[in-house]
Amino acid sequence: MLSRGASNLDPSESSAASATPPPGVIGALREAPGPRNPLAGLRLLNFEKALSHLGQMFERYGDVVRYKIGPFPLFLIAHPDGIKHILQDNHTNYVKSQDYKILKRLLGEGLVTSEGALWLRQRRLIQPVFHRQRVAGFGSIMTEATLEMLESWRQPAAEGREIDVSAEMARVALKIVGRALLSMDLTDEAEAIGRAMTDVNERFGRFDLGILMPSLPTRANRVFRRAAGELKQLVDEIIAERRRENRDRGDLLSMLLAARDDETGEGMSDQQLRDEVLTLILAGHETTATALSWTFYLLSQHPEVERKLEAELREVLGGRPATVADLRNLTYTGMVLDESMRLYPPVWAIGRSPIEDDEVMGYRIPKHSMVILSQYVTHRHPHFWREPERFEPERFSFDNSKDRPRYAFFPFAGGPRQCIGNMFALTEANIVLATVAQHYRMRLVPGHRVELQPLVTLRPRYGIKVTLETNSTRLG
Ligand code: HEM
Repeated sequence: MLSRGASNLDPSESSAASATPPPGVIGALREAPGPRNPLAGLRLLNFEKALSHLGQMFERYGDVVRYKIGPFPLFLIAHPDGIKHILQDNHTNYVKSQDYKILKRLLGEGLVTSEGALWLRQRRLIQPVFHRQRVAGFGSIMTEATLEMLESWRQPAAEGREIDVSAEMARVALKIVGRALLSMDLTDEAEAIGRAMTDVNERFGRFDLGILMPSLPTRANRVFRRAAGELKQLVDEIIAERRRENRDRGDLLSMLLAARDDETGEGMSDQQLRDEVLTLILAGHETTATALSWTFYLLSQHPEVERKLEAELREVLGGRPATVADLRNLTYTGMVLDESMRLYPPVWAIGRSPIEDDEVMGYRIPKHSMVILSQYVTHRHPHFWREPERFEPERFSFDNSKDRPRYAFFPFAGGPRQCIGNMFALTEANIVLATVAQHYRMRLVPGHRVELQPLVTLRPRYGIKVTLETNSTRLG
């Protein structure tokens, strides 16, 4: 729990506080405070421990915390101004941190993990698919997939059988991404993809010797290699099929297949295509599914919010499924989602590394160090969030948010490397939430443990097991 005001700082707490700054452009800057133990940073390498640890360190040291792993400096930047500086104002000085190299073993040179000219070229190429208007065109796919899910819930609802909301959300989100971007259902592949996602997530979340040496035959490495192999093979088959078909389906894959290099006139290699497609499948479903899972959990715990949401849905939709056209009138629905992503950000931390020495909020950030920006920590910053642990969607009303700095809330990061799928995700999450919440209330199965599992995404460790209560407002 983060309770203390956090605007720094007593530099004397840090072993580095009195160190003579090395010569350089910004050599006269102060060293940030932080734990003295030179191995304290090791905790951050184990995601399971890092989440609560980062919160404690912010509470103790303030907005900029300096760690060390041996000689290697590592920083937590928790203040929105510092985050803005890194992601936006001085973004050209930052690349993704070393730990993305691990993710690269799966996603290769896809959009999340590539850098420089290759990233820029691919981003420009892929951006049009995520244009607001294009995303709106995917709305019917989103509504339809939600209705199919609701249909499959009829039986368990009638029999009072429990369902796992997180598994259901993963399935529907995968279906939506598959249909929208690849014109395929991915329903048959859902189980294999789900299993592989869990294996991959667990590999990245746990630091051991095997993660530094991928060829080491540890159990975690073997499980990861198999999962990654399955995913790559699946995507290779999709691409091979589409190359054979040789028809423009007007989806993302058709665009990628048709893309030609301005200078050489060459198309994208199979390897690059695979990296992009796999990246979009993986980045594009687990995140949204996680946001929705936590939202349904929070609603089940806050009947007053649930009632208010239902009132808006009754008024705006009157029992019919939600479509893209409804979204601008579903303001409370959007606020519920934002507040859920504030408390349980699907991506709970991201890492960057400065190419040259930098100054962040008056502190020296040496080149090649690692900088952690944690949505989980900053979304609880007590200067910007009163009673941060409370679930209170009204925080996101226009009046209540107009004076809040942009980066006090950054579930999709920001700057040029902001999530390319943010509009897609928000459209989908609003449609699914509005359509489902009109129909069912979810009741947590008594005794079911709900616990955070901070891996690449912030998952509920044991899923969210609920029974379904049919709402009085029924869909036609
Ligand atoms: C609630 C849902 C989502 C959340 C919270 C989320 C969050 C994020 C965050 C924080 C980043 C920045 C990562 C970094 O800087 O290291 C990111 C990047 C990215 N996301 Fe999302 N995302 C979501 C949904 C989606 C969807 C639906 C797609 C695609 C269909 C997608 C595709 C991507 C891609 C390709 C990138 C890399 C962009 C680049 O570097 O150019 N995401 N996302």
